[in-house]
Amino acid sequence: MAKTIIVSNRLPIKISRNENEQLEYQTSAGGLATGLGSIYKEGNNLWIGWPGLVTSKKEEKKEITESIGKESMFPIFLTEDDIRDFYEGFSNETLWPNFHYFTQYAIYEPRLWEAYKRVNRKFADEILKKTEPGDTLWVHDYQLMLVPGMLREAQPELSIGFFLHIPFPSYEIFRLLPWRRELLNGVLGSDLVGFHTYDDMRHFLSSASRLAGLSSSQGLVVVNNRQVMVDSFPMGIDYDKYAEAAASPGALEKEVYYRISLGDQKLILSIDRLDYSKGIPQRLEAFEMFFDRYPKYRDKVSLIMVVVPSRDSVGKYKELKEEVDRLVGRINGKYGKINWTPVHFFYRSFPLEELSAFYRMADVALVTPMRDGMNLVCKEFIASKINKKGVLILSEMCGASKELSDAILINPNDTNQLVEAINEALTMPEEEQIQHNTNMQNSLKRYNISHWVNLFMKSLTTIKEMQHSMQTRHLDELSQEKMLKEFSKANERLIFLDYDGTLTGFHSDPRDAKPDDELKEIMQNLVKEEKNKVVVISGRDKDTLGGWMGEFDVTLIAEHGIWMREVEKDWRTVVPIKGDWKKEIMPILEMYVQRTPGSFIEEKDFSLVWHYRKVETGLGELRTRELASHLKYISSNSNLQVLEGDHVVEIKDREVNKGRTAHQWLNQTSHDFVFAIGDDATDEDTFKAMPQEAYTIKVGSKTSAARFNVNSYKDVRALLKEMIAEG
Ligand code: UDP
Ligand code: G6P
Repeated sequence: MAKTIIVSNRLPIKISRNENEQLEYQTSAGGLATGLGSIYKEGNNLWIGWPGLVTSKKEEKKEITESIGKESMFPIFLTEDDIRDFYEGFSNETLWPNFHYFTQYAIYEPRLWEAYKRVNRKFADEILKKTEPGDTLWVHDYQLMLVPGMLREAQPELSIGFFLHIPFPSYEIFRLLPWRRELLNGVLGSDLVGFHTYDDMRHFLSSASRLAGLSSSQGLVVVNNRQVMVDSFPMGIDYDKYAEAAASPGALEKEVYYRISLGDQKLILSIDRLDYSKGIPQRLEAFEMFFDRYPKYRDKVSLIMVVVPSRDSVGKYKELKEEVDRLVGRINGKYGKINWTPVHFFYRSFPLEELSAFYRMADVALVTPMRDGMNLVCKEFIASKINKKGVLILSEMCGASKELSDAILINPNDTNQLVEAINEALTMPEEEQIQHNTNMQNSLKRYNISHWVNLFMKSLTTIKEMQHSMQTRHLDELSQEKMLKEFSKANERLIFLDYDGTLTGFHSDPRDAKPDDELKEIMQNLVKEEKNKVVVISGRDKDTLGGWMGEFDVTLIAEHGIWMREVEKDWRTVVPIKGDWKKEIMPILEMYVQRTPGSFIEEKDFSLVWHYRKVETGLGELRTRELASHLKYISSNSNLQVLEGDHVVEIKDREVNKGRTAHQWLNQTSHDFVFAIGDDATDEDTFKAMPQEAYTIKVGSKTSAARFNVNSYKDVRALLKEMIAEG
């Protein structure tokens, strides 16, 4: 049975040696390991990565391989040199600071780059040994950006997904890396590239365009004639696991135990790995200022600060640890009393039960990173709030802030704002807390970790299917000659023509796209020949299409296949369609209109359209992504189709499309030659509905279900003239 292989630098398990020289197994901290930890054991899946221990002993390697093999894991052992130059060096002193906008901390050393390449190769080689035909590979995070490219080179047919768990920086930052092109190309070896947020995705696409000249359309990039899909998949948590842990007797016991020593003070909680991206010193400074500004809270509020040791042999992390120690000491020294400690600082990791007790107990969670790809701690806090009481203060700079808009959002550089947010949180009425947490819990329950995994995997399957059906080649002279020969021999030629972008170019005002003299002449000459049965098939409304093309003896299909008008007949709808879904979708669109000044809704007979031509540049595009994924999620079980067009998002019944109507027409009309030409996503349905031997031609890009492509509407006109000349 085909399997999924998950690959990350660190396995979800961390092996170390205890005082008695015995091997000790611990679960790894960090969002990647905790997030995926719940799913990799399914089926005969496998997780490949570093077990966190350095050893050169063969026996020991064997022992580890065997013991974690039982848990569906396979180890890749890193040497001391690998750890110094690849893990601490290039991964954590070059990529990590660069990607988190700490460019002043980033070092750019060719020696470290060489190690990065070497270790990525080591991973790729081991992965290939474990890969069987039909397997799917899912590579994770910044430590392994070259792996997808290496795998693709070795086995071009593989199905490869890549997910980046940290932010992807703006082009202006990414370009600072001397090896930016190699890194980009490495990632683009995948079929699907996933990020936590739309902004990360946008930054990646902009780098792909500016560094490699790869343009994208609707998140698709064509790399060496292979389509790569780029999309955002905000990672969720295993909601039930955290909710159940918080409700467990163990967590409750721990809470009671801690409460006895702490008394009835209000508790503020922060949990992070030791990392300068987490804003720990900034948070402590705000906490100190909070007691200066609000003395009434002294001895009534404490901060429980858990910092999990991480990368502590890297220089900047060591310095950070010293700074945190100093700040905690200063605050406790300044305000502490015999019976009250302002900051309870723990520099270690805790098992889930104790984390759950902390989450339960905390009145406020302070999650204030300077930058964070997603941040799962804030989601875990919300999921653990069984009684729905508690307030989350969240940095705008983390991916989770896009989803958790019910939190108090702050800019971590604004100490004043943070101080006021703490006061606001401590005084927030309970009903308000419950309301916010209910909203956030509902969303986290729905977009949980299995939803995330399924969505990613489904997208990977989709892009593979698209790649297989998209093998279009240019209509060269030879193919054109062959086509014209068949055309000239045929007596009943069925010709499907899309309108905008195919027969005419695009205009900034769509109303200006009416037929010019050249097009009118082509249409007249084309229909003059009785053997030609011409159908103009368009997304335009029936009145416009009728107004422009009605004078010719052609069949018209309007509104993506809803309306049809045969020569000298009236317009009729093609399939019986229901519009009852509109009631459900309309309120969603209205919500987006409220949030997006300048946008509006158009209600067509059988579709709804959200227009954003007049919306501020950038915002419209941002909302489109949100709206499209929102609608796609809602409509995944219904029969609705979401089409993203030029400054519009259109929702319509999936049953109605150009392809279905074209197919119907094809069945009821005798023919011995079929030709279909079009330029956009909706024409793909037409191409797919055509018989195999039909001449299907895409105007523009080479990735299409059509057999051939031409470059522009000018080529289309030239081709039609050639057909006319054949008689
Ligand atoms: N965590 C842990 N042990 C601890 C403290 C935290 O396993 O003692 C977990 C925490 O529950 C969360 C993860 O570490 O799932 C941190 O992930 P996050 O995305 O917040 O940050 P990252 O460490 O990935 O930057
Ligand atoms: C973040 C990264 C992960 C990493 C984790 C822990 O979550 O995205 O790739 O594994 O931190 O860091 P470490 O260096 O200990 O693996």
